[in-house]
Amino acid sequence: ELKSMRGVASGTLEVVAITTAEYFVPHLLAEFGRRFPDIKFRLTVENRDRVHALLHEQRADLAIMGQPPGGMALRRIPFSPHRLSFVARPDHPLAARRNIPPAALAGERLLLRERGSGTRSNLERFLRAHGVKPLAADELGSNETLKQAVMAGMGIAFLSHHTFAMEVESGRLIRLDVADTPVIREWNVLVHAERPLTPALEALLEFLQTDGAAMMRAITC
Ligand code: PGA
Repeated sequence: ELKSMRGVASGTLEVVAITTAEYFVPHLLAEFGRRFPDIKFRLTVENRDRVHALLHEQRADLAIMGQPPGGMALRRIPFSPHRLSFVARPDHPLAARRNIPPAALAGERLLLRERGSGTRSNLERFLRAHGVKPLAADELGSNETLKQAVMAGMGIAFLSHHTFAMEVESGRLIRLDVADTPVIREWNVLVHAERPLTPALEALLEFLQTDGAAMMRAITC
């Protein structure tokens, strides 16, 4: 059990989260902040290219993302499974079906995240693995836009469970029961290998590996 250690660790931590991590990172930092009230944060939410650059240039103490970027030496701490699934509006013809074969997606209009997004590359990998070519694919720029477009009846989307928990709970979206989903990936905490481990950074890393990971098990839908 990590104790509150007022005064032991202080300073400002620069944390960068990949877009989809914005749904849970504040919950982790809020709890950490209660235990270490003398540590402040600057949290930025960025796309993959920016997260990569901030890590590479050592302008972030720590990054939270899925697939780690290549080309630099990193300390990597996997800390939670990450589930992704297809979602639709509850009145969509596939919504009531069970164990939908991935081939059935070929007739659908799919809504995609922007190029470079980890969510998008996971979808592309899934479609490739199952030999599925969607009827049409529209590119929309963010998790939030995708959800709104699905709710507006534009098509179906492939999203992280973190992004749609509330909409599924309120009945505005439905997770499609597609075979071989959820796709399970991993959330990682990444620190540049040359980044000095200050007491504040060490405290955050320890928190994320222990109580943070436990919180993720409770949050994860
Ligand atoms: P994304 O990435 O928010 O860019 O889709 C999530 C991830 O890193 O897997």
